[in-house]
Amino acid sequence: MTRIAYVNGKYVHHKLASVHIEDRGYQFGDGVYEVVLILNGKLIDLDGHIRRLERSLNEIEIQLSFNLKIFEPIINRLMKMNFLKNGIVYIQVTRGVASRDHKYPKSVNASIVMTIKHINISQKLQKNGQKAITVEDQRWKRRDIKTIQLLPNCIAKEKANKEGAYEAIMIMGDGTVSEGSSSNVWLVKKNQLITREANFNILNGITRKAILKIAKVKNLNIEERKFDIKEMLDSDEVFITSATSIVTGITEIDGKKINNGKIGSISKELRDYYFSHSM
Ligand code: PDD
Repeated sequence: MTRIAYVNGKYVHHKLASVHIEDRGYQFGDGVYEVVLILNGKLIDLDGHIRRLERSLNEIEIQLSFNLKIFEPIINRLMKMNFLKNGIVYIQVTRGVASRDHKYPKSVNASIVMTIKHINISQKLQKNGQKAITVEDQRWKRRDIKTIQLLPNCIAKEKANKEGAYEAIMIMGDGTVSEGSSSNVWLVKKNQLITREANFNILNGITRKAILKIAKVKNLNIEERKFDIKEMLDSDEVFITSATSIVTGITEIDGKKINNGKIGSISKELRDYYFSHSM
């Protein structure tokens, strides 16, 4: 089936979709992005993703001449054109095309690109626990901005991949866990949920926010604070959240089994609740 992408106001064949070689996203990683989950034809937490995109754009002073509300009908049209019910939409905004110069160019139009990809949701639901490894967090100091500059994340994920693991959990200089290479990390200890507080050190996940709400509904105690590798390895359950991993139980880290290698009951309960209330 033909895949259709969106590039600067046009719906084009995915294979032919392109931006100019002097796009600042291509040359400097000067742009931001969002990944939105689509379940049963429904965009999950689109408003939250759009708000975060707006925040990321403001933080790096990319100005748009239109309101981000126009993204929703564009995404809906893309979903229709691609006959997509379950998957993700990738939204990327870069500063635009300009002759290479580190300073921000004046009066350029931002480049807007959107692509859509199918994912098999039933596979996600049946997913067994996954392995993770820990790696040094080599990123810059503004991880709250969802920038397209993802090389440290790619290096971390590739290391995990080579070691047969699903995710790389990143460790900061002080020995505490920041987040996964493309996810937020959670611990469960004696029915208490622990996840790092959202500040410049992590991306404040939209799935993270949804899980915090669900945890409140379920009367679980929540602590938003730092934790180190030892506390993570000694906890009852570990899981990660993101638009693509949704809620994925981590059952082995650096070769050490968590919860005897099984997905924990709270991880499962949160995942099931998230699915049943999103579909
Ligand atoms: N990444 N932390 C990082 C570093 C991430 O890249 C992501 C998501 C998250 C979770 O955010 P959310 O719940 O809003 O998806 C946390 C996306 C999925 C990606 O890069 O593909």
